[in-house]
Amino acid sequence: MSAPAGRARRVLAATAVAVAGTLAVGMAVAAPSSADAAPTLGQLAAAKGRYFGSATDNPTLDNAPYTAVLGGEFNQITVGNTQKWMYTEPSRGQFDYTQADRIVAFARAHDQVVRGHTLVWHNQLPGWIDTVPAGELLGVMRNHVANVAGHYRGEVVHWDVVNEAFEEDGTRRQSVFQQKIGDGYIAEAFKAARAADPNAKLYYNDYNIEGIGAKSDAVYDLVKSFKQQGIPIDGVGMQAHLILGQVPGTVQRNIQRFADLGVDVALTELDIRMNTPRDAAKDAQQAQDYRTVVNACLAVTRCVGITIWDFSDGYSWIPSVFPGEGAALIYDENFAKKPSYWAVYEALGGTTTTTTTTTTTTGDNGTGCTATYRVVGQWHGGYQAEVTVRNTGTAATTGWRVGWTLAQGQTVSSLWNGVLTTSGQQATVRNATYNGRIAVNGTAAFGFVGASAGTNPAPVITCATT
Ligand code: XIL
Repeated sequence: MSAPAGRARRVLAATAVAVAGTLAVGMAVAAPSSADAAPTLGQLAAAKGRYFGSATDNPTLDNAPYTAVLGGEFNQITVGNTQKWMYTEPSRGQFDYTQADRIVAFARAHDQVVRGHTLVWHNQLPGWIDTVPAGELLGVMRNHVANVAGHYRGEVVHWDVVNEAFEEDGTRRQSVFQQKIGDGYIAEAFKAARAADPNAKLYYNDYNIEGIGAKSDAVYDLVKSFKQQGIPIDGVGMQAHLILGQVPGTVQRNIQRFADLGVDVALTELDIRMNTPRDAAKDAQQAQDYRTVVNACLAVTRCVGITIWDFSDGYSWIPSVFPGEGAALIYDENFAKKPSYWAVYEALGGTTTTTTTTTTTTGDNGTGCTATYRVVGQWHGGYQAEVTVRNTGTAATTGWRVGWTLAQGQTVSSLWNGVLTTSGQQATVRNATYNGRIAVNGTAAFGFVGASAGTNPAPVITCATT
């Protein structure tokens, strides 16, 4: 097969999802025969000289449907927790890289670059830090940075060297480092990181610095003074934990002013949270918000990449920290792509053709649904499409089916996350064993590749719940 490695990986990923969920059903999934099929977000970003990545955490590395997406869709990974101080130096002078090494190995196996996160931060510290005498803490901090950045030397493209050192008003956060070492601790951490891994780009990382304001002004002044003094800094990470409908209007201008200081910018922890449950209107707003953020980054040459803070709503940190909020990511709990996925996909240059949505209400529980059909890849003689089914009713579904007419003589040659039957020109897809249940306002999705000759417009599609 002539498809490039990334393409083959993506299709294998889809296969793994199907296999993991339906052991007995036996859905054959063959790779499309062309490299022109739908690209991944990582491939689209790479074509623009950037990365599009995800954070991940160790517990999910044993979840096959999860790792299929993680390994197949992104070209960058951030270690979400296990490079933090409490994991890497649980007792003074005792370093442990077992967990983070697993994530780094996963990334290497999937051709993904790694952002290291994070060397010096006031959170997720081991308890012993508080007992270190003030006069020893600078040495302890330098030793920590030297060990951790030294261990990952050559494996990490960016380090978040210092995380969240400022308050909202632009004053220094009174962390243990600030209190016991003083203002100079940030510069000392950056110097130690440069010495430990001269090739890693060194980032200052924080939240609520995406727009122009007191906090981002303080970071701006810090970067400017580092540049003037020759203290090594290469980038600013804007976490971008955003709220639905509240993307600051100054994001692009803010990214640009940092770039103009001579540093790179990365959006390092993007998520856009909403009051749950999600619904179609919120999903549409979220898609618009993701589009705005991606466009702001792409508009500035030195905005080098975007990382979402995990990719599936089932694995997001938001619900545990902001009660009543969630649904902040681009895949739902069942790894179906949300409208926000497609907004990112299109902002990164991916093209989808006509979308057709039809609502039908049938079935036994008064539940309605909508189906959205997208042609996401076209090549000579073939195409790839994705269909998203949304439960618009008032009760969870137990099953669903969608149908459309293969009016131009198209065929469906392989399909994942659903079960296909055809009768003449009529195609019907029912849920797979594992995705028949859709929560109220939730979605399920399946995809397929097929053959087409000539025109291939998106068809009228009907949807029913069972
Ligand atoms: C979060 C993780 O996602 C959670 O699993 C953990 O319990 C707490 O930390 N800003 C950061 C990240 O820089 O390290 C945080 O990650 C989210 C906020």
